[in-house]
Amino acid sequence: MSEQRPRRGQELLLDPLRTKGTAFSQDERREHGMLGLLPAAVKTIADQCEHTYHEFSTRHNDLDRHIYLRALQDRNETLFYRLLLDNIAEMLPIVYTPTVGEACQRFGEIYRRPRGLFVSYPDREHLREVLRNRRAEEVDVIVVTDGQRILGLGDQGIGGMGIPIGKLSLYTLIGGIAPARTLPIVLDVGTDNADLLNDPYYLGWRHERISDDEYYAFVDEFVTVVREELPDVLLQWEDFATAHALPLLTRYRDEMLTFNDDIQGTAAVAVGALHGAAQVAGRPLAQQQVVMFGAGSAGIGVLQMIRQEMVAQGLSDAEAALRIWAIDINGLLTDDRTDLSAAQRRFAQPAERVTGWGGRQLADVIQHVDVGILLGLSTAAGAFTEEIVRALAAKTDSPIIFPLSNPTSRAEAHPQQIADWSDGRALVATGSPFPPVQVGGHTRKVAQCNNVYIFPAIGLAVTAVRATRVTDNMMRAAAMTLGEASPALVDRGLPLLPDYEDLPEITTRIATAVALQAVRDGVAPEPAGADLAALVERTRWTPDYPG
Ligand code: NAI
Repeated sequence: MSEQRPRRGQELLLDPLRTKGTAFSQDERREHGMLGLLPAAVKTIADQCEHTYHEFSTRHNDLDRHIYLRALQDRNETLFYRLLLDNIAEMLPIVYTPTVGEACQRFGEIYRRPRGLFVSYPDREHLREVLRNRRAEEVDVIVVTDGQRILGLGDQGIGGMGIPIGKLSLYTLIGGIAPARTLPIVLDVGTDNADLLNDPYYLGWRHERISDDEYYAFVDEFVTVVREELPDVLLQWEDFATAHALPLLTRYRDEMLTFNDDIQGTAAVAVGALHGAAQVAGRPLAQQQVVMFGAGSAGIGVLQMIRQEMVAQGLSDAEAALRIWAIDINGLLTDDRTDLSAAQRRFAQPAERVTGWGGRQLADVIQHVDVGILLGLSTAAGAFTEEIVRALAAKTDSPIIFPLSNPTSRAEAHPQQIADWSDGRALVATGSPFPPVQVGGHTRKVAQCNNVYIFPAIGLAVTAVRATRVTDNMMRAAAMTLGEASPALVDRGLPLLPDYEDLPEITTRIATAVALQAVRDGVAPEPAGADLAALVERTRWTPDYPG
């Protein structure tokens, strides 16, 4: 851990959290023992931004731009975040998805300087020492991965470290978590990626993944040490394999401040967009019939939150269940099926409701039910055919159609097709980024359900009010507040989700709602007379050099 004594000279100049580089004034240079260590010119942070933006622009491809920005982050964090803040829409996809995927795949090749903690199975007897070697004593947010299911790229071993680093950059940029108080961690438990095991540049433990028994014991030991060393920290799980993700969340979520963004963040952003869309359509969620095409981990997670929201809007749980139609590769989930998991069974329709239908596929559900919302989390590219979209558009003025599968090539339909087949009436949000669509001579941006709308706000909220848990209600509060911020509510030609440039401001609003919910749920102390919005605002770190 870094010692607290004030740094001087070279040490201060090279400390990425405290340096100003060429922006140290002449007085500061004299005061801190830096005379002669810098060229004569004294720059402002604005000058530095202009310079670094120019450098950034001369890089030839997105990976080079990513490498440039990561190097800047390691050199001068304040400047890195100022540059990002001034260019959010352009740089977010470089620092995070999609470019970070390639950075993970080529982690060993592009590795320059260490960042965060590599918690390796061979060090399992020394996990406390590993944790104590972190760079700062106080930490607000940890993002941890084991690299097994990185984006859509599968097992990347410790290359997965790119994700916690990138994601924590967004916790800071958008959620205002101080960079010194973030900690990226990769659990190095081996890799089953044969290419990596044979790659001379691979930097992780060259070993196949450990067995499940060893794995859960190791994670348990890790979590125990984290809780002892950093009892107030938010521990966010990221990109774990489906088989481990839910068991880990279930095991720890009632014992500590933790959430899984792939499961809970994804559901919140999709339900947020849906809440906005339902309002634009003039028919709240609780009055809609919802079809989920794809009943895997993502689909079921989204449906759980939809059901909770329908109940919050006044339905009984049983009434809500009857409004939800889930379909998997074998057709509609019904209670006479024997192949359903426990989680899926909660969304099975009574078989008698569909007797006499002739079939139990998507087209049958659209034909027989007054469907207003069609969501896709199936990986089945093109499943939302012209026939399906036209049938849905014939039932309602404002069909809500979200092809959410990633990557782009897996989307259930292209937004332009949905616009064409619905005469531009459909309200659309996607999982992957798509170019704007043309509707009646107008260009319309398409909302992308990116988790960045949610997780920085969760981090900011729990940090501001010192919450001890992340409850379902807090995630739902985030979703609803995001939905209320939908630009389409002002003008239905606008996208269902806000522009990235507006993220910091909207995140403050979402964080305030989440903080309030934490207090209501009894997982955060009532703030002493303070206005929660002001408390959240005060908690935000901003990228300015100290005066
Ligand atoms: P999964 O494998 O757990 O579930 C897939 C589901 O789709 C299964 O129920 C399967 O039976 C069903 N399915 C597959 N092919 C089908 C077909 N031809 N017809 C009907 N049903 C079919 O996968 P998971 O983790 O739930 O992910 C699903 C998709 O959602 C992926 O493309 C993933 O990238 C995407 N996703 C998107 C997110 C977002 O924010 N937009 C977040 C998380 C996942």
